[in-house]
Amino acid sequence: MNNIILIGFMGCGKSTVGFRLSYRLRRVLEDTDKLIERKEGRSIRDIFALKGEDAFRRMETACLRELLLSQEEKIIATGGGLPMRQENHALLKELGTVVYLRISAKSVWERLKGDTSRPLLQCAEPLARIEELLEKRAPVYEAAADMILDVDGKDMEQVLTELLDRIAEREGEKDSFMKDGRHENENSGY
Ligand code: S3P
Repeated sequence: MNNIILIGFMGCGKSTVGFRLSYRLRRVLEDTDKLIERKEGRSIRDIFALKGEDAFRRMETACLRELLLSQEEKIIATGGGLPMRQENHALLKELGTVVYLRISAKSVWERLKGDTSRPLLQCAEPLARIEELLEKRAPVYEAAADMILDVDGKDMEQVLTELLDRIAEREGEKDSFMKDGRHENENSGY
């Protein structure tokens, strides 16, 4: 499938970039956190408090499976921990092009200081928590990604422009690959 899926750590801009991208490409935006909240009728914070993180992770996988049922090409923003489940990698790949918005721990901290909506950061030392989680997650995000885009020090417009360029480049490569393929078949008489 040809969705564009945004992955990356909390605060990297998946939802905001997703929103702008959906407008520019005229595609529907889905956000796994929002889909889960709507389905459960409660906030992520309450889901964590009442049902626990494991239950939330299972909901994320179920959400990806549901998204796979749609034929429409969409933009999909994901929760920051979603790629950590190994079985989600195959589902992400099946859904389309996976874009990792890479951010440093310092930038996350600057963006999310004072945020109360992310249960994993409600602790005595949020910056240390961010660093610890990011260290563990960074290689997993990289392994799951088809494209990596650094967002540190860039404003939304720069990130969006770069992303649109990279997507166009990729589409172009795919097109010429397809054309080459057709050529070969013509020459071989099929
Ligand atoms: C989480 C990230 C959150 C949300 C939940 C858990 C994580 O989404 O899914 O709080 O484990 O990193 P955002 O990345 O959109 O903040």
